[in-house]
Amino acid sequence: MSNNNIKIRKCLFPAAGYGTRFLPATKAIPKEMLPVLTKPLLQYGVEEAISANIETMAIVTGRGKRAIEDHFDISYELEHQIKDTSKEHYLTEIRNVINNCTFSYTRQIEMKGLGHAIACGETLIGQEPFAVILADDLCDNDSDSVLSQMIKLYEKYQCSIVAVEEIPAEDSNKYGVIAGDVIEDNVIRVNDMVEKPEPQDAPSNLAIIGRYILTPDIFDIIKDTKAGRGGEIQITDALLTQAKKGGVIAYKFKGKRFDCGSVDGFVQATNYFYNKQK
Ligand code: UTP
Repeated sequence: MSNNNIKIRKCLFPAAGYGTRFLPATKAIPKEMLPVLTKPLLQYGVEEAISANIETMAIVTGRGKRAIEDHFDISYELEHQIKDTSKEHYLTEIRNVINNCTFSYTRQIEMKGLGHAIACGETLIGQEPFAVILADDLCDNDSDSVLSQMIKLYEKYQCSIVAVEEIPAEDSNKYGVIAGDVIEDNVIRVNDMVEKPEPQDAPSNLAIIGRYILTPDIFDIIKDTKAGRGGEIQITDALLTQAKKGGVIAYKFKGKRFDCGSVDGFVQATNYFYNKQK
């Protein structure tokens, strides 16, 4: 029995992808550990989840991703080395993260797509609604993080929520694109979604970015979802099944978002955060 009427307590981070666009950097370093300034992408994601009052982080990793587990753990040698020195403050942020949440991990054995990666997380999530953050989409908003905006919406509608952003028509083949009916400012009840459509086939200019709230029936739906575009099990296809029953809302979030899975987006994010901290 699934229960949607409870708080969002857990955040899933699919982080098993190969990150081929960042080779050779990602040959031995997980893409999610690439730093924007001094902080790895995944830590930004975890801090966003913490800002939305989530304390349980569930991470789907793969081969070659052990640096992620080491990052969210104590390094005794380092602690010992810099304790009571002028450099100790460099550890403050990551100490806060480690002290304020728990981490659990599972591995996606074969990279069969984002939908499949999310299904691998079932063992860590169980039968409750949960958040999903793709750490390579880096979001920033000063007052209220994107995930915490979405959680407020979940409390109202109690169904799956996808964050969407307006994109130029020529970029539609990089995203899942939605269509639906506006039900309040910036909120759309989704009735169609297509994974990576060519511009002429895109149902709108609203693209799904890497923030989701999902109800737990998604796990069974994914199991029944056949491989779609690129031979991968697409979360967009599974969400369409939910959407057809009226169970998906798209939200035009407030804030900035950088596609750090691409070199251009990564450089833009780096410049943005550098200028912001000056
Ligand atoms: P991407 O489409 O960006 O793929 O995945 P990728 O492999 O990470 O990067 P490129 O395209 O090879 O450069 C979007 C998100 O879904 C996760 C990735 O880790 C990333 O956070 N993902 C994707 C998985 O966890 N498993 C998969 O099988 C596919």
